[in-house]
Amino acid sequence: MNREHNLIPFYTNGITMAPMAGVTDSAFRRICIKLGATCLVTEMVTAAGLSRKSVKTKKMLRYHPDEQPIGVQLFGAKPEDFARASDLVTPLGFKFIDINAGCPVKRVLRSGSGSSLLGDIPRLLQIIKVTKENTDLPVTVKIRLGLTRDNPVPDNIGELVADAGACTIAVHGRFRLDFFSGDVNREGIRRIAEFSPIPVIANGDSTSVEAALKLRDETGSTGLLIGRGAWGNPWIFRGIAGGSPFPAPGELHSIIMEQLSMMMEMIPEPQVFHIFRGHLVQYFRGFHGAADLRRRAVGTESFAEVDIVAREADIAMHTSVEDR
Ligand SMILES: Cc1cc2nc3c(=O)[nH]c(=O)nc-3n(C[C@H](O)[C@H](O)[C@H](O)COP(=O)(O)O)c2cc1C
Repeated sequence: MNREHNLIPFYTNGITMAPMAGVTDSAFRRICIKLGATCLVTEMVTAAGLSRKSVKTKKMLRYHPDEQPIGVQLFGAKPEDFARASDLVTPLGFKFIDINAGCPVKRVLRSGSGSSLLGDIPRLLQIIKVTKENTDLPVTVKIRLGLTRDNPVPDNIGELVADAGACTIAVHGRFRLDFFSGDVNREGIRRIAEFSPIPVIANGDSTSVEAALKLRDETGSTGLLIGRGAWGNPWIFRGIAGGSPFPAPGELHSIIMEQLSMMMEMIPEPQVFHIFRGHLVQYFRGFHGAADLRRRAVGTESFAEVDIVAREADIAMHTSVEDR
């Protein structure tokens, strides 16, 4: 094992909220850590933007003191951008720098970033190396299984990234072409973990406590990254930690209002409600009457309106136990 593997146990041996652009903003991250996530990661931040000292990009680095431990995720294509960006983020209190080599979105791929780095492993390794040279923080990397089934990453990818300076590798068990659908390939993650000298974090489809634990155990991974399974259901973190995976009566309402209040401190009206509706509809799933509440959620335009619909949802959820 790499001598650095114990530097970030809250990540390597923990249950981390996966970075999700447009979802895991500061408010939602605070909710996740409060409910038991052991670690957080920012949404992906462009290394080129930081390198240019873009004010808009730098705003994405803002986080609240309650959001610890937190790592910053960078995406980009050019090693020199990562060199400048890591220099810039190092003094900001992040616990590690994560390199995004998994994003399948076209816009990101066109620039040679995200999962396109899986088609150019030497460049990925160079990016890890220069990042490591420009920071004293641990460096981690998040990958997929490869571009396509015919073009998987090598089984010893863990060894390659470790030699370049990474101390942990997170693996989303899909190929780039899969985007976010199809079954997660646990065997693919397991093979990478088997050959890896550094800890492997498993990622993909942890939609319940059982699914999450199965993913970790069947892949031989040390930790988990949970994405969509926590969106609208941050109680999954508490469930994995041994507590209740369901909100107690009143808790759905209180968590929703807490998240909205935190967002309102950062985002002006009316935009904040437009953004928050995306979260609300995720919270309203899996209980009798949820579809109707989702329809109402997309029309909310004030704190008071969210309050009413969230209160009703809380009651509806606890008067029906349908598939929760
Ligand atoms: C809306 C959305 C945004 C995402 N943004 C990022 C991101 O910024 N960085 C990243 O590494 N992965 C991102 N991902 C991928 C997730 O981190 C995760 O790898 C993927 O959703 C699979 O995990 P899950 O099945 O638990 O959701 C995103 C996924 C979604 C659905």
